[in-house]
Amino acid sequence: MYRLGYQLLSLLCLALASPQVKGIVERVDSCDTPTTQHLSAPPYENYFYSDCNAANQVVVTSPLSSSNLTLIGPRLLVAWPAGDSGVVSYFSPKNGVNGSLAIELVGDQPLSPIYTPANSSSLTGEPVVGISTSINFNSSAMLDLAIMGSIRTIRDFTEGPSLLHPEIQDAVNFSSISNGGALLSRLWLDNKTIVSMSFVPEAGSAAVNISNRTLELGAGTYQFNASFDYPQLTQLSASEVLNPESQDLIQQQAGKTTSLSFLSYRHKLLAGAWRFLTYFGRDSMITLLLMQPVFSEGPDGAIEAVIGSVLERLNKTDGKVCHEETIGDYATYENQLKNITSNAPSCTYIMVDSDYYLQPVMQNYFLDTATGRSRRQAFFSQEATLDFGNAGLKYGDLAVRNAEKVMRSAKAFAQPGGQKIHNLVHLVKGQIVGDWRDSTYGIGGGRQPYDVNTALVPAALRAISQLSAAGFYPQHANWSAEAAAYAQIWEDNTLQFFEVTRSVSEAKSLVTNYTNTVGAGFPSHVDDIESDVVFHGLSLNGYDNLKVVEVMNSDDCFRHYLLNTTNQTQLTAFVNQTANNVRLPFPVGLSTDVGMLIANPAYGGEPVYAANWTHNAYQGTVVWGWPLAMMAAGLQRQLYRCNSSEVPDFCNDSSVYSNVIAAYNQLWNVIDDNKQYLSNEVWSWQYRDNSFQFVQLGDLPPPPGSSYTESDIRQLWSLSFLAVTRDESLK
Ligand SMILES: *[C@@H]1O[C@H](CO)[C@@H](O)[C@H](O)[C@H]1NC(C)=O
Ligand SMILES: *[C@@H]1O[C@H](CO)[C@@H](O)[C@H](O)[C@H]1NC(C)=O
Ligand SMILES: *[C@@H]1O[C@H](CO)[C@@H](O)[C@H](O)[C@H]1NC(C)=O
Ligand SMILES: *[C@@H]1O[C@H](CO)[C@@H](O)[C@H](O)[C@H]1NC(C)=O
Ligand SMILES: *[C@@H]1O[C@H](CO)[C@@H](O)[C@H](O)[C@H]1NC(C)=O
Ligand SMILES: *[C@@H]1O[C@H](CO)[C@@H](O)[C@H](O)[C@H]1NC(C)=O
Ligand SMILES: *[C@@H]1O[C@H](CO)[C@@H](O)[C@H](O)[C@H]1NC(C)=O
Ligand SMILES: *[C@@H]1O[C@H](CO)[C@@H](O)[C@H](O)[C@H]1NC(C)=O
Ligand SMILES: *[C@@H]1O[C@H](CO)[C@@H](O)[C@H](O)[C@H]1NC(C)=O
Ligand SMILES: *[C@@H]1O[C@H](CO)[C@@H](O)[C@H](O)[C@H]1NC(C)=O
Ligand SMILES: *[C@@H]1O[C@H](CO)[C@@H](O)[C@H](O)[C@H]1NC(C)=O
Ligand SMILES: *[C@@H]1O[C@H](CO)[C@@H](O)[C@H](O)[C@H]1NC(C)=O
Repeated sequence: MYRLGYQLLSLLCLALASPQVKGIVERVDSCDTPTTQHLSAPPYENYFYSDCNAANQVVVTSPLSSSNLTLIGPRLLVAWPAGDSGVVSYFSPKNGVNGSLAIELVGDQPLSPIYTPANSSSLTGEPVVGISTSINFNSSAMLDLAIMGSIRTIRDFTEGPSLLHPEIQDAVNFSSISNGGALLSRLWLDNKTIVSMSFVPEAGSAAVNISNRTLELGAGTYQFNASFDYPQLTQLSASEVLNPESQDLIQQQAGKTTSLSFLSYRHKLLAGAWRFLTYFGRDSMITLLLMQPVFSEGPDGAIEAVIGSVLERLNKTDGKVCHEETIGDYATYENQLKNITSNAPSCTYIMVDSDYYLQPVMQNYFLDTATGRSRRQAFFSQEATLDFGNAGLKYGDLAVRNAEKVMRSAKAFAQPGGQKIHNLVHLVKGQIVGDWRDSTYGIGGGRQPYDVNTALVPAALRAISQLSAAGFYPQHANWSAEAAAYAQIWEDNTLQFFEVTRSVSEAKSLVTNYTNTVGAGFPSHVDDIESDVVFHGLSLNGYDNLKVVEVMNSDDCFRHYLLNTTNQTQLTAFVNQTANNVRLPFPVGLSTDVGMLIANPAYGGEPVYAANWTHNAYQGTVVWGWPLAMMAAGLQRQLYRCNSSEVPDFCNDSSVYSNVIAAYNQLWNVIDDNKQYLSNEVWSWQYRDNSFQFVQLGDLPPPPGSSYTESDIRQLWSLSFLAVTRDESLK
């Protein structure tokens, strides 16, 4: 079966040599201590190489005998965080028999760096950086397609699906070079940056033949180089991302901390490798919410990198948070589509959830930590410097725009008699996605998402109230009380719109029918349904006239992690239903051998549920790493309230309390059973030999109407298990 493991080839010497030095975070300035990592997830082999000049990821895909050859072909991809850039080559066997060509990098530590200082002929004035390696072909191969420039251009092809942009493709130049090699190079749309890759035969291999914009390579080994001359980011080493108290993790969890470093830079954290190798607002802030206890503080640390990156990219007019930045070659491309000649980056503001994470992360650092409190003045008087339209504006002025946005959007619902669906926060007009379940049918076309309305809005309001009480936002003198009053109304009056209840007999019949409809071989477990099944739907006003999109899901975790609600009747029922749904086996609940599923459509009843939330859909009946962490941490926070000065009622209801304890431990047992997968972005399952077994999402053909999705081998927020750990005393 699929084996996923990591092999750590080398680590920062300094970090290894002196993990005990607390309080001193030194910088390794020498390039003779690269950080490398090899992560194997057949048919994908991932190699990472970073040094002080550049960071590189190489992904080699070579089909397995079990691979679906329509989806998986031989592919060599290089991804660079700088400019969200990359190159990819698609190969096919010269004999035309799919599956007969295998490719691999040669050697245990196959990557070496390319670094050439800029000379007078350079148009960017930047050094040429990249990687060099040896690649072996088991039989003669054709390089049929090369895409060179932006990761976004590559994703347009892989996920578009198959979109190619002539203005980018036609600019690739093919030329012969010495020693029988071939060079492919392309001038970016900025007319300055040059990206290139080359194949040169090593001893015994045939010269590369160029024919009609394809390459022909013989069986054997070729030296492969890929490089570009573009301004690079400053990477944070593992020891720089982590705070002094957490330096031991560098040895204890070397694989995760190496990956974290690869995704962490002085001015932003990147969402994932390789598909999301750039700033994403939600990903950065969910990660910070979960990982603050281990993240470095202060002006050069990870926490301020995240908060600063969000403020730099805020829409100053309406206070919305940037979801995804568009930078590098793709920025010029998008500008060109608008008939604008410019390399200026831009942002998309299509999400609604992202707007509500900023105030809580500000509170957690600038109010709740000593360093944060001491940094407040200096941080918020900084001026934005990046080219997202805010240059020269103070961070403090940007923060207030976002707080004003939150207060504006929360007001109507908080008015007397205002607790109506139309006053809830809804997706941006014309957008079909708006929260983390951002695939076409992720929340079933609903307009009002569950997580945003029942958790994120009130959490942002609570944070504004606290920040205001501490002297933030002096221009809004009454916000401390006003935001708290709004928060109370949002906390107490939103769950009911999403609540779904099924009687025992309805629940049993729905689950039986769903099990038969899916026909994947798993048992229905209907005997586990002993009382009404209660859950909260993904959204309201979905496609197919669904008033509530009645899919059981994992998004209860937001409320548990972000809020300490006070309506005791409601809280007791809410923690209890979460505990049931987390604890019970799918398709009764969310639990499987490979982790808690993020969605279970069994109780919907309409055929569209079983048809749309499937095990091959990005946000279907699949497992994501970070919701496991947020659910575990959220249940833990609620359980900790039982030892606080204001003990919630559920703590004294022994059946509910033990139910929550059972859910917490059962969830951790499953997390512990799946340690080797937790840092992945998303994964799926196949039911075999009486259990749910791990399958990569990219091994499954996509559902109709959706494009093929391969999971990132590492996702920033999936690394949160570095900070989220089991409390063994909660037994
Ligand atoms: C062979 O591979 C190509 C490229 O991956 C793919 O388009 C084609 O569908 C495959 N053919 C078969 C019969 O699987
Ligand atoms: C300048 O650098 C480029 C890229 O490394 C190289 O191809 C070229 O030969 C160099 N030119 C000179 C004059 O050194
Ligand atoms: C690059 O050069 C082309 C051709 O001269 C020109 O049309 C285009 O506007 C230039 N692009 C930029 C971003 O300067
Ligand atoms: C060159 O490739 C193009 C596109 O793949 C194809 O349409 C054309 O027929 C090829 N020309 C020759 C001479 O093979
Ligand atoms: C910022 O928000 C304003 C008001 O909603 C909008 O008109 C503008 O287009 C937004 N800016 C960007 C860059 O999206
Ligand atoms: C860009 O210019 C072209 C040619 O003048 C025109 O056809 C197109 O509509 C313009 N696009 C936009 C977005 O303005
Ligand atoms: C389910 O998916 C189909 C496309 O396959 C789409 O037309 C429909 O709107 C979706 N319904 C929901 C509730 O997601
Ligand atoms: C608490 O919640 C319950 C159930 O949702 C509701 O019936 C009750 O009115 C609420 N109590 C207060 C004080 O808001
Ligand atoms: C908690 O869930 C259990 C199991 O479904 C159920 O029997 C019990 O009535 C629930 N308790 C409360 C207070 O909701
Ligand atoms: C069972 O499920 C199928 C497919 O979802 C649906 O067409 C059918 O109406 C359901 N039957 C019952 C009795 O719920
Ligand atoms: C809720 O209370 C728990 C236990 O006292 C605490 O750990 C947690 O930080 C609180 N959460 C919020 C959002 O205040
Ligand atoms: C392989 O993938 C194709 C394209 O998605 C799909 O149509 C086909 O059913 C898949 N084959 C198998 C055996 O899963």
